[in-house]
Amino acid sequence: MRQFIEGLPKVELHLHIEGTLEPELMFELANRNGIEIPYSSPQQIRQAYQFHNLQSFLDIYYQGANVLITEQDFFDLTWAYLQKCQQDNVLHTEIFFDPQTHTNRGIAFATVVNGIHRALQKGQQELAISSHLIMCFLRHLSQQSALETLQQALPHKDKIIGVGLDSSELGNPPQKFAQVFQQAIKEGFLTVAHAGEEGPSSHIQDAMTLLGVSRIDHGVRCVDDPKLMQILQVLKMPLTVCPLSNIKLKVFDSMQEHNVVELLHQGLCVTINSDDPAYFGGYMTDNFHQIALTHPIESKELAQFTRNAIDASFASDDRKQDLIRHLEGYLVQCIQ
Ligand code: HPA
Ligand code: ZN
Repeated sequence: MRQFIEGLPKVELHLHIEGTLEPELMFELANRNGIEIPYSSPQQIRQAYQFHNLQSFLDIYYQGANVLITEQDFFDLTWAYLQKCQQDNVLHTEIFFDPQTHTNRGIAFATVVNGIHRALQKGQQELAISSHLIMCFLRHLSQQSALETLQQALPHKDKIIGVGLDSSELGNPPQKFAQVFQQAIKEGFLTVAHAGEEGPSSHIQDAMTLLGVSRIDHGVRCVDDPKLMQILQVLKMPLTVCPLSNIKLKVFDSMQEHNVVELLHQGLCVTINSDDPAYFGGYMTDNFHQIALTHPIESKELAQFTRNAIDASFASDDRKQDLIRHLEGYLVQCIQ
């Protein structure tokens, strides 16, 4: 099964680039930039990654991002992630970045976006990995700050396909950002939002009606509302589910109790993703594998996660056709 999963063509739709900062690179960048970090080795950093909820993770995650200073740092971070994509056979990826985490420390918006974008171009040319970039607003900050961030993004429209919403969900509902999302849609951006991870299922409904989202990030709390489940089925609203993340942040008590396979069986457009792999202990193959180890699931159902992700992606129709051809080719080759 592991071998099937390793070779399975994959599409990632929920990945925070700051969450791919491995302890070794964090150390290297801290040294390169003369930044103090409260750890004496990469092992000590890994030991600190014990989380009891979303907020306890976010506190450590924002601290880790302090080592990212120059355009080259953002390039190196993104290039390291793309190499993981190549290992895991991820053929297309849609990447979140959090500009406010950096601009609030005095790093220019252009430094962040240009470093990431340059690595994505190289990934397309040298690794044939297609990609898009989605800028997230931090929901613990004000809508005014999000509106200012949207203004900063306008000169970089050609590099950013959409906007999203992440950070602390509890106490920061979708309606807090209704105006900035309306503005973003007017400017031609697609929209997505984290909802129903730690927060209630009503956040999923509100993200659809108030923020006009094309996908829900996480969304696993949808099971609390049978009517919402029906709406998600009818609309084929994609949920970008992140199994290892959900276990590390205690959204579910164990992988056996994770509901992504149940959601798949109920006909929802669910996908598997890695969220913040350097912090949660695994990239795409590991996330697929953990689900396969703990649930009765067939190969064709694992492939369905990729089919759903192709459908749900912001790739062009031509690229989607291409990705389907890769997937079908692989499945045929596995039967022979
Ligand atoms: N939830 C909310 N905000 C985040 C996450 C997440 O899983 N990862 C990075 N920022
Ligand atoms: Zn996330």
